[in-house]
Amino acid sequence: MGILLKNISTLLTLQEARRKDGRRITEADLGILQKQSVLIEKEKIAWMGPTGKLPKEFARKKIKEHDMKGLTVMPGLIECHTHLIYAGNRAAEFEMRNQGVSYQEIAAKGGGILSTMKHTRESSLKQLVQEGQKRVNHFISQGVTTIEMKSGYALNLKDELKVLQAAQNLEGVRTVSTFLGAHALPPEFKTYESYLEFLADQVLPVVKKKKLAGRVDVFIEKGFFPKEASEKYLRRAKEMGFDVLIHADQMTLSGGSEVAINVEALSGDHLLQITNKEIQALAKSNVTCVMLPSADLYTRTKYPPAKELIEAGARVALATDFNPGTSPTQDLNLVGLLARLEMKMSLPQVISAYTVGAAFALNLQNETGSIEVGKCADILCTPQDWRCMFYSVGEVVEKKVFSRGKLVFDRLK
Ligand code: NIG
Ligand code: FE
Repeated sequence: MGILLKNISTLLTLQEARRKDGRRITEADLGILQKQSVLIEKEKIAWMGPTGKLPKEFARKKIKEHDMKGLTVMPGLIECHTHLIYAGNRAAEFEMRNQGVSYQEIAAKGGGILSTMKHTRESSLKQLVQEGQKRVNHFISQGVTTIEMKSGYALNLKDELKVLQAAQNLEGVRTVSTFLGAHALPPEFKTYESYLEFLADQVLPVVKKKKLAGRVDVFIEKGFFPKEASEKYLRRAKEMGFDVLIHADQMTLSGGSEVAINVEALSGDHLLQITNKEIQALAKSNVTCVMLPSADLYTRTKYPPAKELIEAGARVALATDFNPGTSPTQDLNLVGLLARLEMKMSLPQVISAYTVGAAFALNLQNETGSIEVGKCADILCTPQDWRCMFYSVGEVVEKKVFSRGKLVFDRLK
């Protein structure tokens, strides 16, 4: 049976943003149309056009109608960078950081990622799935229809596989799994180089064989993974058929974005320390620049040069970086608000970054991120005027969310 979203007051297709490769976005690229209808058939968008103009060949079929009068309809939002599966919390470290102890100092004393590692290793698959599903549901309630999630809080073969398995057991929307074994050096290894070799020799082949993730990420940073060994590791991952991406230039300018360009990564994430040289190089490349301003807020640092990147022609995406250490929030509204207030992104640029830009970061730009015939029906329906998005902190907006044509959230009855 088909689904017809009819009488849509305002439709944002984002088609032009997609056609422009997610670059140099202006309001005209949102594809704003009035009085439209969208027909969904078998997970996909089968037809779209003015209300009342449904062609006869479609009208003959059985169709369930949803009246969208007074609503804005747009692509479902895409969370392209999260560390969603973990156990425990790091509230005590938050307090320490707030009293002046640095992230690196905490990490060097076995806190930080290694403290989450301990709790995650001790958790069962069932516990991780239960907690993970609650977090997924919270993203869905905000209009999210695709969620990327990284492993990287287990740091051994058995438990990294458990975390990736948990990701595959989550339901409701599309999930994209990333292997981030190279997140921190686990206590079982003495050097970053030997740990990376272990990951490439013994873990990646299993992840590949079991189809647990199609992407590999590395945290290139002073006090974490060094640039040269990381580049070698990512090249090996690519040879095995993985897409690659990088936590790059977050705390220091440590060469992550340079490596991202060298290895043709899908995305370089964080990027707040980059200079004009990296901005120009990223703009010329096909690497999506993923900005994570809520992590910058929590770590009380500067924000990435989004405006300069956009003006230079780079493609930009936004995400929460949801994790227990540097960004313990799932609030997309806060992320968009910070992008506007602190990074001077325009509202159309924020909307495109959370749809088209994020779809490119996941290499899903031909499946989702814009409303076009043939694409997946990942759709957000909201009574909110698009001009009021990413504006008011703490606001809860009722909505309907369709993920691949299935109604997965409905608070508009
Ligand atoms: O994206 N930078 C590395 N990884 C995370 C933080 C992980 C943690 O502190 O638990 C990030 O900010
Ligand atoms: Fe991250």
